[in-house]
Amino acid sequence: MRIVHLAAEFAPIAKAGGLGEVLLGLTREVSKKGLDVEVILPKYDLIDLSKVQNLSIEVPNFKCLDSQNAVWSCRYEECQLRLLESRHPAGYFHRGKIYGCEDDIARFTYFSRAALEYLALQNKPIDVLHLHDWHVALCAPMVRHLFTQLRVKSIVLSIHNIEYQGKCAVSDLDRIGLKGDFYLAPHLLQDDNPKHPKTINLLKGGLVFSDALIPVSPTYAQEILTPQYGGGLDGTLRKLKPKIFGILNGIDQKIWDPEKDPALSMHYSTESVAKGKQAARAKIKLDGTKRPWIGAITRLVVQKGPELLEEAIETTLKLGGSYALLGSSPHPKMQEHFNQLKKKYEGNARVLFQFEYNEQLAHELYAALDLLLVPSHYEPCGLTQMIAMRYGTVPIVRSTGGLKDTVFDAEDSSTPAVKRNGFVFRDATKASMNQTLKRAFELFNSDPVTFQTLIRRGMQTDFSWKNPTLEYIKLYRTLLKSALDVNPIRINVVAN
Ligand code: GLC
Repeated sequence: MRIVHLAAEFAPIAKAGGLGEVLLGLTREVSKKGLDVEVILPKYDLIDLSKVQNLSIEVPNFKCLDSQNAVWSCRYEECQLRLLESRHPAGYFHRGKIYGCEDDIARFTYFSRAALEYLALQNKPIDVLHLHDWHVALCAPMVRHLFTQLRVKSIVLSIHNIEYQGKCAVSDLDRIGLKGDFYLAPHLLQDDNPKHPKTINLLKGGLVFSDALIPVSPTYAQEILTPQYGGGLDGTLRKLKPKIFGILNGIDQKIWDPEKDPALSMHYSTESVAKGKQAARAKIKLDGTKRPWIGAITRLVVQKGPELLEEAIETTLKLGGSYALLGSSPHPKMQEHFNQLKKKYEGNARVLFQFEYNEQLAHELYAALDLLLVPSHYEPCGLTQMIAMRYGTVPIVRSTGGLKDTVFDAEDSSTPAVKRNGFVFRDATKASMNQTLKRAFELFNSDPVTFQTLIRRGMQTDFSWKNPTLEYIKLYRTLLKSALDVNPIRINVVAN
């Protein structure tokens, strides 16, 4: 079975967040099961080419619209990695970053088309074309209408975050050689917001023209059908419900392994967790006498509940613990706000702020903390809570998306005792969070035996890609079986 993934990220060479990690974990594990897996991503200038060995040019020159491209290729972590080099005069992938450019729409629609041009040159049948998020969602309608020569049996779109949709103008489609006006229809790519009748929504194109949609957790698959979480696409999603299959992400249990992690000064297992955590704490500049240590390792964006992360500082201090925050914000205003907070707590040994992307410190913190706070307003899957549990750090999460699917409250009698592994609060409010922080602190201080049980349970849970991989392969197989018949969803949409 040949699976071709198109994505904007792939860890560790081009990673901005969880998407990159998922691409690596999923492709590696599916390849190990003997499927033929390829990944195509833009050849960003920020890719450290020393990390990609044996990279060689596969197609030195091919045209997409008016500009030239090349494709570089190598074996990487079990799968075939292809880097698409665009020589477009706008220097689409020479920006020193993956996202956040004014012309992101032009950059990623160009990549989408160029990747399909390359696949057409390759002229090899594809069993599953697996797309990720809005960046490449346009490939779905392009395969159906423009690249009909591509022998693609089925298209899958993973939804890592429905908030980002690639909203743009009709002219953005024209620019990459589609008839933009044609797509401005409610059953095609017209944005669902009636106030924006002239807006094209790239993600919607992926939703409508893919054979299966995969939100990255079962709860998120349900949530996006509602106005609260659907990002305005819930109406379309409800119509497409039969082709939505939520599959929980895994984490790379080799990278995140306290027994072998090279970032740690002492390795530990469930048997030696207390000592291991003590050793990790010794490396962190935080008051070791004031515990529990609670922290967050996160991007500072609205999704992650920054106002709750802030609130938790005072609550932690009142309750007698210490607080660490590692992360940074892509939004200057938000970053400035947290810079001010850092100033406010300067000299306070019980508060640590580190505003940077720091892999080493992240590993040390996962080991050193007692509690990890994840107060997200929404969370498609979330990887930090699973990583924390691997390191014996007990998560405190808001009940949403993948957090709800992986963390079960220590005091929730409706959950079987053997599943309880953390603390969960329902509402994204200060009151609801504070009350839960209080419960967590109380248990930590007054019932160490139960707290140890939570630690051990988290460490022993299998969060690897093993089960998700089987689910993906099962889904691929089901799709291929039905692709042998003519796919009804496809016909309906085109005929409308
Ligand atoms: C996005 C989501 C996050 C998810 C990740 C990988 O970053 O916000 O919840 O874990 O994608 O799917």
